[in-house]
Amino acid sequence: MQKKNIIITGGATGFGKAILDVFLKNDCKIIITSRSQKKIDNLNIDLPKNYKNKVYYFNTKLENENDIDELLEYSQKTFNNKIDCIINNASLSLTGKFKDIPYYEYKKAFNLNFLLISYLIKKILVINNFNNIKVVNILGGSINVGIPYSSSYSLTKLTLKVFTEILKMEDSNLELILFHPGPLNTGIENRKLYGFKLNPIKSLVRKDPHIIANKFYKDLCRGKKIINYSKFQNILLLIYIFFPKMISRLVK
Ligand SMILES: NC(=O)c1ccc[n+]([C@@H]2O[C@H](COP(=O)([O-])OP(=O)(O)OC[C@H]3O[C@@H](n4cnc5c(N)ncnc54)[C@H](OP(=O)(O)O)[C@@H]3O)[C@@H](O)[C@H]2O)c1
Repeated sequence: MQKKNIIITGGATGFGKAILDVFLKNDCKIIITSRSQKKIDNLNIDLPKNYKNKVYYFNTKLENENDIDELLEYSQKTFNNKIDCIINNASLSLTGKFKDIPYYEYKKAFNLNFLLISYLIKKILVINNFNNIKVVNILGGSINVGIPYSSSYSLTKLTLKVFTEILKMEDSNLELILFHPGPLNTGIENRKLYGFKLNPIKSLVRKDPHIIANKFYKDLCRGKKIINYSKFQNILLLIYIFFPKMISRLVK
């Protein structure tokens, strides 16, 4: 994965920025998207001089199909029709009881975390001049067992997981990678919490996004198609099988 052309959605901050740093060290060119011109400007100021001509910025809300069309057009022009990898990193994380999350936010999360990714993949499959492209779909939350307060986030990611698994069986000419990074230290406190208080002790298990991004890069280069660093998923599944009533107590 050296000297490749990469797109990272939502790559100006958080885990997307950590992935950007790894790809830059490996001589790649990268387009990142952000809704915020300020975030883009700050990223550009902070970038070391030798990386400045390797990063391209696309300011978009990633709100509808037209935004995806424009992103792909811009990327094809910028990279002379050669896009090697798209990392679907942008994501809306809502935590709280279903009854407390406004319905419009719920829809927004499904739109960003699943529907627009499916639209992007459909365009790649239909346009057909995206040769040998890798598409990385990032999972999160609990994708094996339903846990309280995650009806939006985990459900959107579970939908994305099952969708990716189905496409892998249907379209062998598309290289799809499922990636669960596990809990990360990317400022979850900035996300939208509805009547839910974070337990500070649990933030201790969150990993450094740079360490995880480096590990991810190596596994991607090794050709892994399922990259899962979330041990929590298997532990939850075991607890669910043997002590189903414990699940809600663990999450609180
Ligand atoms: N943090 C974790 O513990 C964790 C654990 C497992 C998986 N993940 C996954 O890893 C990826 C990155 O995680 P992160 O912690 O860096 O996530 P994040 O900060 O919550 O979100 C990533 C980016 O998504 C974009 N975004 C957020 N809401 C949006 C909206 N409504 N419309 C359009 N774009 C929006 C933002 O980019 P702009 O503001 O620049 O537009 C943001 O920087 C996500 O897919 C997440 O699900 C994270």
